[in-house]
Amino acid sequence: MKIAVIGTGYVGLVSGTCFAEWGHEVVCVDKDAQKIAGLKRGVLPIYEPGLDELVVSNVNARRLGFTCHLPEALKGAAIVLIAVGTPTRAGHGDADLSFVYMAARELAPHLEKGAVIVVKSTVPVGTGDVVEKIVGSIRPAGSFSVASNPEFLREGVAIRDFLEPDRVVIGVEDDPARKVLTALYGPPLEARDTPIVVTRRRTSELIKYAANAFLATKITFINELADLCEEVGSDVSELALGMGLDKRIGASFLNAGPGYGGSCFPKDTLALLRTAQDHGIALRLVEETVTANEARKRRMALKVMEALGGEVEGATIAVLGLTFKPDTDDMRDAPSVPLIETLQRFGARIRAYDPIGVENASRVLSDIAFCDDPYECVRGADAAVVVTEWDSIRDLDLARVKGAMKQSVLIDLRNVLSQAVAESLGFQITAIGRSA
Ligand code: UGA
Repeated sequence: MKIAVIGTGYVGLVSGTCFAEWGHEVVCVDKDAQKIAGLKRGVLPIYEPGLDELVVSNVNARRLGFTCHLPEALKGAAIVLIAVGTPTRAGHGDADLSFVYMAARELAPHLEKGAVIVVKSTVPVGTGDVVEKIVGSIRPAGSFSVASNPEFLREGVAIRDFLEPDRVVIGVEDDPARKVLTALYGPPLEARDTPIVVTRRRTSELIKYAANAFLATKITFINELADLCEEVGSDVSELALGMGLDKRIGASFLNAGPGYGGSCFPKDTLALLRTAQDHGIALRLVEETVTANEARKRRMALKVMEALGGEVEGATIAVLGLTFKPDTDDMRDAPSVPLIETLQRFGARIRAYDPIGVENASRVLSDIAFCDDPYECVRGADAAVVVTEWDSIRDLDLARVKGAMKQSVLIDLRNVLSQAVAESLGFQITAIGRSA
């Protein structure tokens, strides 16, 4: 099957490459000529473990190609995937759909008869209807279909999430689209017995937001419980273990931390709230989740200040990890940003280490001494704060850290350092959801 993918951002690139890996002929199209030129040479615009090798091997196998020329990409394509960005509209909170609608307008004249347009971008309920209207104003009704097929990829493990998903969700309004999409996902996932949920387009669009909002709420729940643990002398990691082994609850997404960030949860929870408001529905749990998470991210700086006796003026603080989570260079809504900005406002000097994220971090943060190595980062520091749980940070040799620091103050916002080892070395360690 020939598949055209519009947009070579995170979702488009991962999906296109994985469809090629499944044996399809895939052409990814993007307006950014520099990006396309880079991709043709195997230079990726994003960091995702394993993706560069997969792109190169599929390009070499002639299953995957890149172009700026939309008509060329659409020629002979049975499926056209829209995977363009849907950022938050500044000052509104809802998703900006202008790229999706532009793609619909531009693809319509070149669409093959019977082609299925698949909206993969995260879009509010009803977007598929609008795409159908736009294309329908240019092409005769019945000569194309519009489907929804949300992605559930996590940055850092996106390839595995794509090739071995928990489930696939397909939202269709007609039989041809159902047939094409079940033929696309059915055979490669048959051996794994992966459930394919086939539903109406509007339900499929909402499933994506509901799943992300639920996960964001789950994280926020455990984060609030962590605060209670600190007050009452309980341990949130053991609490999460004891809760999560109940199959109805599940162990994942119960890691307490500095608050969720990234390009999806913050954006998608806001967009869902906006949709609900537009329909007169109050999603109070989601509202509270958004508010609590924002407040939490800002509060993390206070934790650091408290650990240093309430004052950080003139102190040197080593921030270990900057990206919103490990195995990505993504800094969008990263908890490190409000943390660092607040500490700087109170007069702290910041040194920072991140294995991959420094380039993106230097675009959003200033006055930071960036270090290539965590031990260099903690040298002469009054306190070290773990913000992102990269392996190189989890595996720190704490004795070496102790030897390099000026004061022995550790703040572990991800609960990845051994409290026992740290204390035996003479560190004063503050963790999440654990009393000292
Ligand atoms: C999230 C969803 O997990 C994916 O299913 C979805 O496809 C994606 O959004 C999307 O909509 O595109 P992602 O943002 O890549 O994926 O990252 P997650 O692993 O979900 O982490 C999000 C945030 O939650 C991170 O800041 C992470 O540190 C935090 N988190 C996660 C916790 O604080 N505790 C946890 O237990 C899990």
